[in-house]
Amino acid sequence: MTVLVTGGAGYIGSHVVRLLQQQGRKVVVIDNLSSGVSQRIGEAILVTLDLAAEGAAEQLTALMAEHGVESVIHFAARKQVGESVLKPEWYFEQNIGGMAHLLEAMQHSDVRKLVFSSSAATYGIPTEDFVGEDYDCKPINPYGQTKLIGEWMLANAQRAWGLRGASLRYFNVAGAGWDDLADTAVMNLVPIVFAALREGRAPVVFGDDYPTPDGSCVRDYVHVLDLAQAHISALDYLNRDDRKYSTFNVGTGSGSSVFEVLDEIKKVSGIDFAVDVQARRAGDPPYLCADVSRIKDELGWVAKHNLNDIIESAWAARG
Ligand code: WQD
Repeated sequence: MTVLVTGGAGYIGSHVVRLLQQQGRKVVVIDNLSSGVSQRIGEAILVTLDLAAEGAAEQLTALMAEHGVESVIHFAARKQVGESVLKPEWYFEQNIGGMAHLLEAMQHSDVRKLVFSSSAATYGIPTEDFVGEDYDCKPINPYGQTKLIGEWMLANAQRAWGLRGASLRYFNVAGAGWDDLADTAVMNLVPIVFAALREGRAPVVFGDDYPTPDGSCVRDYVHVLDLAQAHISALDYLNRDDRKYSTFNVGTGSGSSVFEVLDEIKKVSGIDFAVDVQARRAGDPPYLCADVSRIKDELGWVAKHNLNDIIESAWAARG
């Protein structure tokens, strides 16, 4: 009953590892610690391995046999949009190459259950405010492209050799399920604002002239603990023979603007900080929120936390 979690020392992966451990399941984590933190995973076995490296499929096959791996949750990938635009070949080598080696090893080892970390970035700039999984995905950056291709690779493996897979399209993840599992990468709105406040700078708002209620972009912010639970629900779903889908949005189904997030941070922190409104950021859609009816109907999963819970937990864990 061992679960192999690639990228399990990362912000989201470590939340899933902890939930699996609470269930009493044996967990083996693969992480090259390029951004992961080994202290996050407690007693889980840690193997440092670059999934994209030559020979990784053979090493993975040996690992699956050694630990009696029965299912895989795959987080390990490069995930910086801006970096992907500058280094597209590396992003494909890392994210697609790693996925290919993992699937090869799973087929060879007859490990047939996979939950794949995908992204709302697969949608690109949708024309609908609340987007469903059947939307015609047109990712606008190499990062989003690698996630959509990863979904295709999973679907191909389902057809070719009976893999049971679920691709989870994350919307905007924030918060902390435990104080020691904060998002330490300063790459998304909430940790970026916290870093600005720590350094005495005014947080920046990229554009207040969008066609939204207050002019700032609207996103679907989902608590990382809710997202982690969605992975457990997806793993259980793979045991069912009546599965209808293999791609699921993970969000709350409601949107919050940048200004609303900043106001929540002011309320929670007690700091009435000024903001620095700058020009729009390239590639930002005005709205990017999830239609979450499929994951509710199929997996029975619904987000339990709201924006206040997200900011309260992130602030408490900020260190
Ligand atoms: C959120 C909003 C910014 C910083 C990213 C990934 C995507 C997915 C979700 C993983 C935007 C605004 C930000 C700042 C700001 N993650 N902003 N000032 O771009 O919605 O999506 O997370 O799969 O792949 O790209 O997230 O946190 O960068 O931005 O005004 O200093 O906050 O313009 O509207 P994004 P983000």
